[in-house]
Amino acid sequence: MIKFDVEDREGNVQSIEVPGDISLSLMEVLKASEYNILATCGGMALCATCHVEVEKGIEHLGDPNEAEMDMLDTLPDASFNSRLACQIRIGEHLDGAYFRLMAEEE
Ligand code: FES
Repeated sequence: MIKFDVEDREGNVQSIEVPGDISLSLMEVLKASEYNILATCGGMALCATCHVEVEKGIEHLGDPNEAEMDMLDTLPDASFNSRLACQIRIGEHLDGAYFRLMAEEE
């Protein structure tokens, strides 16, 4: 099992534990954990409603792919540690990470 922390838009922090080898994206796990993420594009890096800031563990994530990078470039509130949760695969590298949800709920 791996464990990481998620901070919602109100500042509440919750630890999420999932098997390290499930074939899901972080966005899918967050949705399954009842977070209100629209994911309008279904995980294609096109809607940015899964925008998160990686407060801890970004050094383990590797560089964003081109589609993710292009989308992040369009976000006014993106910062150096912004990522799209749909482009982050669940894996051992997320153990101990800390994510903050950024996109507005609608
Ligand atoms: S779900 Fe649309 S960009 Fe991630």
